Amino acid sequence: MAEFSLPANSLVQKGKNFKDSSSRRLRSVQVYRWDPDTGENPRVDTFEVDMEACGPMVLDVLLRIKNSIDSTLTFRRSCREGICGSCSMNINGVNTLACTTAADDIKGKIKVYPLPHMSVIKDLVPDMNNFYAQYASIKPWLQADSAAPDTERLQSQEDREKLDGLYECILCACCSTSCPSYWWNSDRYLGPAALLQAYRWIADSRDESAGERLDELDDAFKLYRCHTIMNCTNACPKGLNPAKAIGEIKQTIVKRK
Ligand code: SF4
Ligand code: SF4
Ligand code: FES
Repeated sequence: MAEFSLPANSLVQKGKNFKDSSSRRLRSVQVYRWDPDTGENPRVDTFEVDMEACGPMVLDVLLRIKNSIDSTLTFRRSCREGICGSCSMNINGVNTLACTTAADDIKGKIKVYPLPHMSVIKDLVPDMNNFYAQYASIKPWLQADSAAPDTERLQSQEDREKLDGLYECILCACCSTSCPSYWWNSDRYLGPAALLQAYRWIADSRDESAGERLDELDDAFKLYRCHTIMNCTNACPKGLNPAKAIGEIKQTIVKRK
């Protein structure tokens, strides 16, 4: 029988405990920590955070920790409004955005980890290089050989509506990092985020490269590692449906054969 074990230096250890200097309405927050410069194993630190001193979202809680308790805590964030996709992380077992997740909606301890199945750069910051390279590989820009008009390239209202549910993607990677197929084959399977973005251009009436785009995707690994498990759609914090977009790509390939 196959036996699996983790390398000793990857085992997560019990971490340190910190308490907010002001202690009014305290909330226990467990946070994954790993600093490659120390040579130590990852650990989970516990912070007792004063909820009266910070805003309502999990991102506010992390900012409170960073600003007032432990300035070495490392995480990405920018817009604080669910627009930039930077603050994606795993909160109480769910891949989501820290800035749109209310602390009050979480029962018991708040548990914060980096997105799963990605290499960790430090603390809550995963290495997104492969994810972005895959996004670049689908050529996410308008391709058209016909002469450019003097004004914008127009499209009908109906054609514009075909992009709804696609253009809103903020590339947070919550979907791809919740996809079992992507966990095991992220070197060759493009994953739901890049595939949804690919379909966004295939579906665009102004783009003239749908054929080439489909040729590129018609590959046993790039596209067909999706087994319609649907984790991606459940995970998307923007309410998008990457599994449906992947299904549309597969159907479009079948129809043109
Ligand atoms: S539907 Fe496809 S892309 Fe989405 S989680 Fe399942 S295998 Fe992954
Ligand atoms: S489809 Fe949703 S979960 Fe996936 S990258 Fe886009 S916004 Fe994030
Ligand atoms: S900080 Fe931009 S999406 Fe959360």
